[in-house]
Amino acid sequence: MRIIQAGDYNDMSRKAAAILAAQITLKPDCVLGLATGSTPVGAYEKLVEWYRNGSLDFSGVSSVNLDEYRGIGKENPQSYYYFMHQHLFDKVNIRPENTRVPDGTEPDAEKECRAYEEHIRSLGGIDLQLLGLGHNGHIGFNEPAATFAKVTHCVDLAESTIEANKRFFASADEVPRQAYTMGIGTIMHAKKILVVVSGEDKAEIVAKAFFGEVTPEVPASILQMHQDVTLVADTAALSRIPR
Ligand code: GLP
Repeated sequence: MRIIQAGDYNDMSRKAAAILAAQITLKPDCVLGLATGSTPVGAYEKLVEWYRNGSLDFSGVSSVNLDEYRGIGKENPQSYYYFMHQHLFDKVNIRPENTRVPDGTEPDAEKECRAYEEHIRSLGGIDLQLLGLGHNGHIGFNEPAATFAKVTHCVDLAESTIEANKRFFASADEVPRQAYTMGIGTIMHAKKILVVVSGEDKAEIVAKAFFGEVTPEVPASILQMHQDVTLVADTAALSRIPR
């Protein structure tokens, strides 16, 4: 695992965006695995800036998102579909038909999850998967559990996740209780993985996930077993790692 230390959130965003931009430059028809949450927002802003100044071209890029809340529609500002359009898709020249987010309105979970896995396979797999890190060590919406989930599936969100994500909703009651998420196996199949983390409040989970025991109780810990992981984190998020 490579650890790239950034001074602060802006520096982390610029460094992460540079890695994503390098991927697009090296392979213009690459498949990006994309993430939501507050952490990647700054990196998306940089990518938009570099697209606008002519440094980046998304016309050949395909994307698949990690996860989506179950039961909320595309027009809902809290949906990850909406988030991706707001922060990236509507601001660059990626072809809408080349982007995909799990369909949270599909009531048949098995059908949607199977179709999602098939879609990723049909693209030839993910070249670079971007990940944020939940306070409980979740990646995508793979919550702490007794085993690692292999493929895209429907999850019951942990109370701590509902609590953490309620800031985006009017109240905790409005946070959906379930989500569709790529599995740990889906994520681990990506050729390269880029994890972004910022802030003192993530320092403890960063140390646990990347330097602690590999266990499904800390889903991100599995990333220690991947052959090409880059962690871009700011000084605060790295403040508890062993030196
Ligand atoms: C959400 C998302 C994750 C994200 C995590 C951290 O629940 N499903 O993909 O990485 O929360 O979010 P944040 O970056 O806002 O801390």
